[in-house]
Parts: sequence; C-alpha cells; structure tokens
Amino acid sequence: MSGRESSSLSALTGVGVADLRVECGSKPSTSDYGIVGTGAVRNGTKRGYTPLQLLPVPIPLTMRLAHLTDPHLTPLPDRWPGGRPSKRWLSWLSWQRRRRHLHRREQLEALVDAVRAAGPDAWAVTGDLCQTGTPDEIDEATAWLQRLAPDERVLATPGNHDVFGPGSRQRIDAQWAAWLHRPEDRVAVRRFGPVHLIAVDSAVVTPVGSARGEVGAAGRARLAAALREARGRFRVVLIHHPPVPGLCKRRKALADDAAVASLLHDEGAGLVLHGHLHHDHRYDLPTADGATLPVFCTPSASAPDAAARLFDIEPADGTFRVRMRLIGPDGVSGEKTWVSAG
Ligand SMILES: [Fe+2]
Ligand SMILES: [Fe+2]
Repeated sequence: MSGRESSSLSALTGVGVADLRVECGSKPSTSDYGIVGTGAVRNGTKRGYTPLQLLPVPIPLTMRLAHLTDPHLTPLPDRWPGGRPSKRWLSWLSWQRRRRHLHRREQLEALVDAVRAAGPDAWAVTGDLCQTGTPDEIDEATAWLQRLAPDERVLATPGNHDVFGPGSRQRIDAQWAAWLHRPEDRVAVRRFGPVHLIAVDSAVVTPVGSARGEVGAAGRARLAAALREARGRFRVVLIHHPPVPGLCKRRKALADDAAVASLLHDEGAGLVLHGHLHHDHRYDLPTADGATLPVFCTPSASAPDAAARLFDIEPADGTFRVRMRLIGPDGVSGEKTWVSAG
C-alpha cells in the first residue's frame, strides 16, 4: 500500500479515544505498534486519570519526533494580585518588564501550526509552559497540552517555571499525569516502535535568584535502568535543564549535572533534548563505547526566533538513520543527517 493512510486509533484500542486519527506509512502490522509505557490516560472524568494503561500506537517505519520547549505561554495579570514581595513577585515583575514582550502567544500558535503540518508521530515538550506556576497558569497549560495532540502522542517534563512555588508540584502531578512520569518515578518511558522516549524530571522548587534543577539519586537510578532496558533501541532522553556541566551559570544549572553527564557517558543514548536556555545549541558528549551523543537545546517556542526541532528516525541495518531539521513558523532550516547506534 503506498502513501500515508489514516487509521482509527480508537478502533484499534477500544479505550474510547474518540475520533482520533493517526497517519501511517502503511497499514501497520502488530510489530509496528509502539506501546505507551509508564504514564496515564484520561479516563473521561474531569481531571481523572488511569495510570499505566497501555495503548497500542501505530507508527510508520520512519518515526517523526517534534521537540518543543519553553513556550512560557501563560500570561500573568497586569496587576500584582497581592501578597508580600516574593520569588513569585520578582518573576511577575520580570514578566511585566521584559518577558511579556519576548514570549508571544501568536508566535507559539504559528509554530505549533507549522509543526502540526509536518505530521509528527510524537511530541516532546521539555518544560517551562508557565511563568510562575500558579493554579491559573497550570490550568491554562493543561488546556494547551490537551489541544496539542492526542495524549498518547505527547510526552512532557516540567521546568523550573512550572514547579515554581508552593502548590505547583501537586497541581502539575494531578493535572499533567497523562503526559508525565508517575510522581514517585521522576522518569517516564514511552515506546514508539524502536524509538524509546525517556523523560526525566529535573524541576524542583528553588529559592529566590535560583533556577536550578536536580534529578536526584533515585531519578538517576531510574534513568540508568531505562537506558539499559532500551539498549539496542533508539533512546531519546528529554529533560528541562542541560544535563552537561558548563552550558549555563551555576544558579541556572542542574545541581547534579556532572553525575547525569557521567551516567549518559556510561549508558549512551541516541539523543538528548533539553530546554531552559532558550537558544539553538548542540553539544556532543562522548560515550563509553566511543560514540558521540548529540545534546540539543531548542529555542523557546514563543520567542521572536521561535523554533522546534523535527527528527526523522529510521532503523537501518542495525543502526538508525537520523534526519534533524529546525522548523519555525516560516519554514525549515539547518538540516543535518547522521547514523546512530541509538
Ligand atoms: Fe524557560
Ligand atoms: Fe527553565
């Protein structure tokens, strides 16, 4: 069968994902199905989720992954709602003075339209959907994630502007469960055929003046286990903070970046995708088996130079052929291709 054809996921799964259609390269056989791993799916009740439900996801042989990050999509009220000056007040001030002129909803919407037109099989969102992590902002970000793509096509991990202050973590864990790790894990895995997306939660509440993150010992152990279990597949690590020392100031860095970089060096992976820095950057991390692990930062999805990354990942004789492009509202650029052991 030639061309891309549609098939009904709801008919395939029987779990009531109504009116959901996905694009396939050809009618998939069972072996073409990816299985959604840890995570949860909406169960039809308001903010109700069923953890660990498995959904078969038909994907074409070449998987197309989109990476978006740091949309900072939630505008803040024009007037400070009250209360003593705090970390949240300082961030509100920063939004009013500078950031609201940088992060524009129309830029974000134009970018999402361009990415959607490219037909990604999965979306990776690496945090900072909010500015100060208030209930209203988290609610708005929840609605945006729901509109982005079907739940099982989206894997997210929060940033420091999401897990910003008291109460942010609990609300995010409750409302973003369909797109996140389970709260006790800090690491989520979703499989799309031979491509494994491994999201690592680096967001922690920090004091005034700090935008740091931390994976922690338990998170690192889960990440190492997930990378080991997926050896031989194409492993994509998603994280908000750069997982390599020296890519940003210490007050913005991952507290355990050296330990995470060492883990990535030892276990290897096909790609690392992160946000937090709001610019286009690539860093090549050497791995223990003599390969090179590309670590990409993608620009903010709502800034004047808003962009996302598209990766086409295709199995090829025991390795993977990877094509990477930067996509903005006005088109694609910066195409690179390489072969990876995954
Ligand atoms: Fe950010
Ligand atoms: Fe950030």
